[in-house]
Amino acid sequence: MKKKVKDMERIQKIIARRSDYSRRKAEELIVERRVTLNGKIVQELGTLASGSDEILIDGNVIYQPEKIYYLVNKPIKVISSTSDEHERAIITDLVDASEKVYPVGRLDYYTTGLILLTNDGELANKLMHPKYEVKKIYSVKVEGDIKYDEIKKLRSGIEIDGYKTSHAEVTKISYNKKTNQSTVEVQIHEGRNQQVRKMFLSVGYKVKTLNRIQYAFFKIEEEKIGRGKARRLKIKEVQKLYNLVGDQ
Ligand code: URA
Repeated sequence: MKKKVKDMERIQKIIARRSDYSRRKAEELIVERRVTLNGKIVQELGTLASGSDEILIDGNVIYQPEKIYYLVNKPIKVISSTSDEHERAIITDLVDASEKVYPVGRLDYYTTGLILLTNDGELANKLMHPKYEVKKIYSVKVEGDIKYDEIKKLRSGIEIDGYKTSHAEVTKISYNKKTNQSTVEVQIHEGRNQQVRKMFLSVGYKVKTLNRIQYAFFKIEEEKIGRGKARRLKIKEVQKLYNLVGDQ
């Protein structure tokens, strides 16, 4: 049966997904004529293949567990880790993964919202690297009616733990008189430990709830994932994440 073009991908992409080789390394292997596709040496970098083709490197079948990716809507009282010595609930319990997956970065025990889990270490490391500035937006509820002066300080960067935070986009959404709470949206470009909580504390406001409403292009309002639930990413979404961190 003829394969559909949409199921075909450049062979170096398949190698990167199914082995420890990066896409770049896979390209080198192709140039060195060390890769065969269904018994024939691959001659060109653009050669297309599908997941069911036999791909060998130096005569050895490449096989690594399939890379899997989940988007999770984390509830409170779950730790963003694969184990916990205090036997608290862990984030990986929220997915039914056939392979061991890891959280991409972390959300505090009491923070809710979007977080990725994957066994794709290459992508995870890139997404976590500060140079790519992957978008992270939080909805923050703080005690009291936050003033414009404080918003301005948060925007321009403030000192916490002996370092100055880089600029942040900070917007006051509302103030609720009844609960005496302000809702603020914050986009930060770093991911230091408890950064948002510490930023607000340093201008005198205690964070009551912290919810990550956007991670990269995933927006909580567009997702139909309930709290504590997860969904697998589509191949297109994984590709888009790779594009974000500069890999085609
Ligand atoms: N900033 C925090 O303070 N906590 C989080 O979980 C994420 C960002």
